[in-house]
Amino acid sequence: MPVATATRPVLVIGAGTMGSGIAQVFAAAGRQVMIQDNDEASLKRGLAAIGKSLDRLVKKGALDAAAREQVLGRIRNAAPGDSLADCAIAVEAVPERLDLKKAVFRELDRVLAPDAILATNTSSISITELAAATRSPSRVVGMHFMNPVPVMQLVEVVRGLETSEETVRATMDVALALGKTPVVVEDRPGFVSNRVLLPMINEAVFALQEGVATREAIDTVMKLGMNHPLGPLALADLIGLDVCLDIMEVLQRGFGDDKYRPCPLLRTMVAAGRLGRKVGRGFYEYLDS
Ligand code: CAA
Repeated sequence: MPVATATRPVLVIGAGTMGSGIAQVFAAAGRQVMIQDNDEASLKRGLAAIGKSLDRLVKKGALDAAAREQVLGRIRNAAPGDSLADCAIAVEAVPERLDLKKAVFRELDRVLAPDAILATNTSSISITELAAATRSPSRVVGMHFMNPVPVMQLVEVVRGLETSEETVRATMDVALALGKTPVVVEDRPGFVSNRVLLPMINEAVFALQEGVATREAIDTVMKLGMNHPLGPLALADLIGLDVCLDIMEVLQRGFGDDKYRPCPLLRTMVAAGRLGRKVGRGFYEYLDS
């Protein structure tokens, strides 16, 4: 019977862009957070990113220095040997590899209390398939945050085939307590967010490849013409071009429909290692990363 008791700690697995953002919003909402990442460097980068994000809030007066320290004080590294049995919810945000995520879920199912919620931030992998790696699929749910997590309002709550109503309700309550707006969607490739967003981004890459317009022109059309805060190419850089390619492949495979074929230029960019903001180069160059 899943309960997301507010006094029990939260476990976040993966300290990348999404994991660190998720840890931050839980800590900002007053929860004790344990964060786990096998890669020491990634953990360090994640904690630094949280510090930087909180600095932005302090700078604009949304947070004072003492509150910044309190938020940071609620986040700690989950060391080997730490008991995780008390965690009310785990949110998995490791790289988008099915084998890796299944292994995480098998382990979570083993070590967390039977009433804990097992959530995944996956943007494209089937919740039902991850749930099938556990002995308790009714407590497995998608909790899909958007990047940048501290800023974006939405949490897509994804219901797998076996996810119980109780788990869905408790997950919505968790998202509401974070100040987010949860929206429930069914477990289909790309859910709603990426099924709609990624084909648009992919089409923008086709337009660039075909020389319809420059990168700046394509992005300006969508920013000024459609009021998007970022153009699709700049947004692809924010998401990560490798992530965009993965999601297009999931859509193409999942629906068996070539209308989702990834643009060859997207493949080329990924092959060249131009993965977007996280490496300083994507469709644009980023000097500050
Ligand atoms: N932490 C804290 N605050 C942040 C932040 C961060 N990491 N990033 C931005 N902000 C804040 C800024 O401090 C600023 O706050 P104020 O307006 O109160 O001053 C505000 O957000 C706007 O930031 P900037 O002025 O620096 O820049 P901007 O106006 O270009 O906004 C943006 C940045 C919020 C990222 C905006 O460009 C935007 O909304 N972009 C679209 C993002 C989007 O579509 N995300 C979804 C991606 S898809 C996804 O995540 C799902 C998936 O599975 C792929």
